[in-house]
Order: sequence, then C-alpha cells, then structure tokens
Amino acid sequence: MRAIIENTMTFVKETFEKEYSGHDVWHTMRVYKLATNLAKEEKANLFTVQLAALLHDVDDYKLSKDTYPTKQKTRDFLKSQGLDEASIESIVHIIDQVSFKGSDSQVPDTLEGKCVQDADRLDAIGAIGIARAFTFGGHHNRVLYDPSIPPQLHMDEKTYRNHVSTTINHFYEKLFLLEKMMNTESAKKIASHRQHVMQEYMNEFLLEWEGEK
Ligand code: ADP
Ligand code: NI
Repeated sequence: MRAIIENTMTFVKETFEKEYSGHDVWHTMRVYKLATNLAKEEKANLFTVQLAALLHDVDDYKLSKDTYPTKQKTRDFLKSQGLDEASIESIVHIIDQVSFKGSDSQVPDTLEGKCVQDADRLDAIGAIGIARAFTFGGHHNRVLYDPSIPPQLHMDEKTYRNHVSTTINHFYEKLFLLEKMMNTESAKKIASHRQHVMQEYMNEFLLEWEGEK
C-alpha cells in the first residue's frame, strides 16, 4: 500500500507541474498531511483518505473541466495501480463530494470523505488561505478590493462558479463560511484558530484601507 501512495505522489507532482494559481502540488501535499492527521484522530480508513486527498484536485473543475464529471484521470491512474473497481468507486465518490459549491455544497456521507473535505477546506483558510486567495486573485486578474462592490452571499453552485468579484469579497463569499462547515471535531479546532487569524488580518486590512493605524 505504501508503494501505491508513493506512486500517487509522483503522479500528482507531474500533474500539477505547471500550476501556479494556488492549486499547486504543495496544496495537495498539505491536504494529504492534514487529512492524514484527521483520519488518525477520527479513526477513519487511512489508505482511502490518503489516496482521495492526494487525488482530490486531479480532475478539478477549474483545472480539468473535461474530466471533472467523470473523474477519468483519477480512475485511469487508480486502475493502473491495480486497485479494484469498488475501491476506485469509493475514492471517486469522496472526491465528488469534496468541493465547495456555495449553498449546494455537500456533507460527505462517509467518515473518510469528511476528513478529506475538512482537510481541503482547512488549506483554504488561515495564513495559507490568505496567501492562496491573493495568488488566485493575481493569477485571474481580479480587483483586490472595491468597497462599492458588496459580497454576494447565499450563492448556489452555478451562481458561485460564474461569479466574478474582488479578492476581498471572496473572504466573505467563501473563506469565512468554512469554519462552520467543518465536519469533524478535530478539524473544527484547527479551523477556529485559522478563522481568528483571517479575522485579525481582515481587521488590519480594512483599517489600513481607510488610512488608519
Ligand atoms: P479547493 O482546492 O479548496 O477546492 P478552489 O478550487 O475553490 O479550492 O480554489 C483554490 C484556491 O483559490 C483556494 O484557496 C480558494 O480560496 C482560492 N480561490 C478560489 N476562488 C477565488 C476567488 N474568487 N478569489 C480569490 N481566491 C479564490
Ligand atoms: Ni483542493
């Protein structure tokens, strides 16, 4: 099983080689580490969690639109590693439920899925989350902040996917919402600290914007 994990790491490193939008292989490796810790604390199946964590963005909507619905790259890779059909299905199922879709976001129906989703969301908040948001904003030529554009709350999946706004609004439209969406007790504790870090940062940002402090 260790060999499959190592092969998967090599595969994702190749897959994300030219990715600079905040979705690089280091994101995958951080999610892998967080998910591993959560799986141990929550007593979830470690192998399933680790494989799903490593592969969760391979067929991502933004990075690989064509294979997003079928998760074909993930399926083909797991098949090449000799994994049986049932195990492949269970990993694809976890990945299907991971992503943030506004008010259409899913609560995973397996403990393993909950660990992977929590790990992915933990990496979107806190100090790293702040860095990733600005990296995304720069990569996609987004306006940093415009106080005349209010954040749009309660978006469904389609609205969220097509929505273009400022990077600061992204904090209110997604990042600040994630703490309350954590599934596992272990992740809730980490999220609470990371939420605090983001709030402190945002307070400072808005004060500096007004020329205060
Ligand atoms: P994930 O890997 O968690 O599924 P996404 O694909 O939604 O995340 O986005 C990748 C990273 O880019 C995350 O850190 C996310 O917060 C950030 N991001 C996504 N959309 C925006 C946006 N509109 N503005 C700023 N950052 C964004
Ligand atoms: Ni991710």
